[in-house]
Amino acid sequence: MYVQHDDLKASALALIDGETNLIANLANLSSLFFYELPDLNWAGFYLWDEKSQELVLGPFQGRPACIRIKPGRGVCGQAFQQKKPLIVDDVHAFEGHIACDSASRSEMVIPIIVGSQVMGVLDLDSPQVARFTADDLARIQPIVEELAYLWKAPETQ
Ligand code: SME
Repeated sequence: MYVQHDDLKASALALIDGETNLIANLANLSSLFFYELPDLNWAGFYLWDEKSQELVLGPFQGRPACIRIKPGRGVCGQAFQQKKPLIVDDVHAFEGHIACDSASRSEMVIPIIVGSQVMGVLDLDSPQVARFTADDLARIQPIVEELAYLWKAPETQ
């Protein structure tokens, strides 16, 4: 039985409560999303790398994925560049979609915004067409917004 979305936020907050290590928290959250949201084949994070000016693969659950994504490339790079969440009902119809797992058919990407800077993105993939709804976004985005503190914590500087 999957947890309800509102419980999902409570579970997410409980997982990161009192912990400021970025990798540990993102690893646990990717696992939570992957196992608690139905019909996903990939859940994880891409993190902005100032040095290379690319998004770099972070903690995730699912099949191995492409490591680096330039701003504007694919759904992740578009969400990063536009600084807004994107829901793609059919990735085959999205020009420039980066296919990491051929099973993926729909995708939701939510940027992690701290101040005016996008620190990374949460990427959720599903083998079902049109898996992600506005309701999913409304419930998952507040969880992503809670992550901003991780970039402000001394341990992650
Ligand atoms: N499909 C993404 C790339 C990341 S993988 O799905 C894990 C994109 O188009 O940005």
